Amino acid sequence: MSKDKNEWGSNMSFILAMIGSAVGLGNIWRYPYVLYSNGGGAFYIPYIVAILIMGIPFLILEYGVGYNFKSSFSKALTKISSKWEYLGWLLPVAVFMIMIYYSAILGWDGIYIFMSFFKGWGADPNAYFTSTLLHASDSYTGLASFVPLIAVSMIVGWVIIWFISHRDLEKGLGRVSKVLVPALFIIMVIIVGFSLTLPGASVGLAELFHPNWSLLTDFGIWMAAFGQIVFSLSLGMSIAFTYASYTKDDADLVTNTISIALANSLFENFAALGVFSILGYMSLQSGIPVADIVTQGTGLVFIVYPTVFNVLGQWAYVLGPLFFFTVYLAGLTSILSTIEPLSFSIQNKFGLTRKRTMTILIIVGAICSMIYATSYGSNVLGYVDTFINQIALLLGVVLECIIFAWVFKAEKLIDFMNARSKTIKLGKWWLVIVKYILPIFITVVWIGGIIDVVNSATFDQLVFTIIIAAILLIATLIFTLLPAKSSDWNETEERV
Ligand code: PHE
Repeated sequence: MSKDKNEWGSNMSFILAMIGSAVGLGNIWRYPYVLYSNGGGAFYIPYIVAILIMGIPFLILEYGVGYNFKSSFSKALTKISSKWEYLGWLLPVAVFMIMIYYSAILGWDGIYIFMSFFKGWGADPNAYFTSTLLHASDSYTGLASFVPLIAVSMIVGWVIIWFISHRDLEKGLGRVSKVLVPALFIIMVIIVGFSLTLPGASVGLAELFHPNWSLLTDFGIWMAAFGQIVFSLSLGMSIAFTYASYTKDDADLVTNTISIALANSLFENFAALGVFSILGYMSLQSGIPVADIVTQGTGLVFIVYPTVFNVLGQWAYVLGPLFFFTVYLAGLTSILSTIEPLSFSIQNKFGLTRKRTMTILIIVGAICSMIYATSYGSNVLGYVDTFINQIALLLGVVLECIIFAWVFKAEKLIDFMNARSKTIKLGKWWLVIVKYILPIFITVVWIGGIIDVVNSATFDQLVFTIIIAAILLIATLIFTLLPAKSSDWNETEERV
């Protein structure tokens, strides 16, 4: 395996690919709702605190350790101590599971791009999405009924991913990020600019930002802010780690982190302006209060938006395709990042080339993703999403924090990072955050998430959660136990 196949051509490729990973569906369909339902304007206080005490310090840590090792996540963890190898595979496999369900959402969105040219969802977007398109069924017998249109659209997505990912890093992901990420921001500015001119936009925005200060003493909004930042910045997922290990020797990681966190927040707040202007417009047209229309996730993108486009007249034929295309781009630049940690780990341990590893993983991913092309698929998607985001990844963040800050020793990074940093310098404050505040805080959020899942889960959800957890744990075990094929698996270059 030649190293240059896994190296960024420039710092700009690294930053843009990282922004591409961070800016995804979470920014478009999750954040606006989180902001609205957690105190509106008052949410900015926990949000900014979460960025300052978690987002930035943790990203610096993950980058720093990744940069130091110049190797994959599993290889580095094995180097830190061979007893951590299992965790070294757990996160990359969990992130690969995200990839598989993200491909389904991309698949749905691909169909909507097409439909939006002629409002193909008809007069009742809700019925279209759940019945006509997904053939959604609440019974697991739906696993036996296959929906070919969705399968085809998902496979198109996998082919695009393969086309980009199987190339050398800079020639594929690097170049694509340099084009798609700026394009994503530009299209978003156009959409938001247009949305702000709609009648009723100000009603939506007033509703969004109306601050509910009393919520600040509510623990829930603090949890929501921390959860949002973990998801949105793709923290602790071994993605930042892997991307930093691909950098050349002179990167200013501290300054890069600040740029990435700023770009991510800018994008999601911008998205919130767009979403609520449009909801305000719809409220004005229909007389239904914003509070009764607002929702998040697939409901927002695939039901509320088409409903708005139905009342928007001719403009919908421009705004609709533009909107679904933006969602596609945001999803694509994120999904491309989800294969990197596992792919690089496999290349390191088993001595396969980047091209071959990507091809195998994409075929496996595409086959597994077909479960989402069944009538029960959207239910499974919900279960996997909840399990991975509320349970598996938060645990990953806590463990990563402990291993990097305590076992690896975050102190080792300070001089080295400061020597390159043109902006802030790391000091004791950073160590206190990554060693104490973060592990404690995230553990609390993690426990809160588990309680939430257990309290709200249906029987089917619990059964599926156990199956999903078993798949994750067994796949991880297999990667850990398979003997290394690469002679340098136990030799890792360190830069610090
Ligand atoms: N950060 C992405 C978003 O905001 C989500 C994501 C999660 C991307 C995990 C990659 C890995 O949508």
